[in-house]
Amino acid sequence: MDHFLYHNGVLCAEDVPVTDIAAAVGTPFYVYSTATLTRHFRLFDEALMGMDHLICFAMKANSNQAVLTLMASLGAGVDVVSGGEYARAKAAGFDGDKIVFSGVGKTREEMRTALLGGIRQFNLESEPEMRRLNQIALELGVVAPVTVRVNPDVDAKTHEKIATGKSENKFGIPIARAPEVYAEIATLPGLRAVGIDVHIGSQLTDLEPFRQAYRKVADLTRTLRAQGHDIIRLDLGGGLGIPYERSNAAPPLPVEYGAMVRHELADLGCEIEIEPGRLIAGNAGILVTEVIYVKSGEGREFVIVDAAMNDLVRPAMYSAHHDIVPVIEPAPGAEQSPFDVVGPVCETGDTFAKQRNLTAMAEGDLIAFRSAGAYGAVMASEYNTRPLIPEVLVKDDQFAVIRARPTYEQIIARDSVPDWL
Ligand code: LLP
Repeated sequence: MDHFLYHNGVLCAEDVPVTDIAAAVGTPFYVYSTATLTRHFRLFDEALMGMDHLICFAMKANSNQAVLTLMASLGAGVDVVSGGEYARAKAAGFDGDKIVFSGVGKTREEMRTALLGGIRQFNLESEPEMRRLNQIALELGVVAPVTVRVNPDVDAKTHEKIATGKSENKFGIPIARAPEVYAEIATLPGLRAVGIDVHIGSQLTDLEPFRQAYRKVADLTRTLRAQGHDIIRLDLGGGLGIPYERSNAAPPLPVEYGAMVRHELADLGCEIEIEPGRLIAGNAGILVTEVIYVKSGEGREFVIVDAAMNDLVRPAMYSAHHDIVPVIEPAPGAEQSPFDVVGPVCETGDTFAKQRNLTAMAEGDLIAFRSAGAYGAVMASEYNTRPLIPEVLVKDDQFAVIRARPTYEQIIARDSVPDWL
């Protein structure tokens, strides 16, 4: 459930007509709902009730400071994958002991910053990283809390570009090698193992791959404990999928995911961490765009909108589906016909939808791409010198611009021309 519904024939974000936001900020723009973000966080929190747990929002899905500040106020932790994300977490007020650092290529500088600024744990992904972190912790005279991200060799049955838990993927340490790695950590004075981490992929629509991975993690927990390691925390990653297409069967709910986690892992008595991104932010945001032209091609109608692949890259990059809805509610039973919905960028890949059944479109109409709150704004670029589009946050009947559209002058001023030219 989300909070983008028609009221009096106009699509609203909570109680704000999307047309009002368009009039105030211009198109295209992203708009997020505080109520939906809050609801999704709470669904996970309730799903894990009864187990000691921390929900670490994967800010790679949406790292706007306002969204992070909301998450912090709800009691969330946060999962970061770069020095930039770490800086955002601190700026949003997360305490160090609520920040988890993931990622396959953490640099010396990133390690140093997090060790000095405070960190809940580093999720280690390789032996070279483990040795480097030990060295930096020793230089700073601190002990780094770590987990090892294990690769359980499980097929997440998701898009190949976002599956991470197969042995051929670059992520984690093969689970069979984990006992050796924990044995080495025990000899390194700069590191203290606190748990095990696993993340097998994103947009999973079935609980079974999670279950298989978590069973392997449960077995490993017992093995490592028997070898004398103090495993107190299990980080189960993110990855629970969302319904991008309303017409399709809905993926499992957080409550079902939570029940599975409890069934597989509760008896170990570990603190459970999860790192959801998409499920919290995805359906909490839409991208609103205006139709520039409707153009007839050879047997095809093209709707050319003012948003493009640089604003929302998921369709071009993963052939992802985003539901498209008109901002003005069509009359009941209004006829639909197939359209290709495309952006203005000079690439064929700049296509949001092919042969999508929509009601009649005209220049100046506003349409919205749904489920755009995760991996939308964060993956945007200024390709074609198209300014990053504004982000707006709604709460009840109020809205605020939480990132303004830069001017062309601001964009140009970021470059500098050497004086030999
Ligand atoms: N934890 C780790 C270590 C991750 O790598 C990811 C996502 C997450 C948590 C959050 O996963 P989520 O709950 O959001 O599925 N750009 C792609 C998605 C890439 C996901 C990368 N890792 C997309 O637009 O579909």
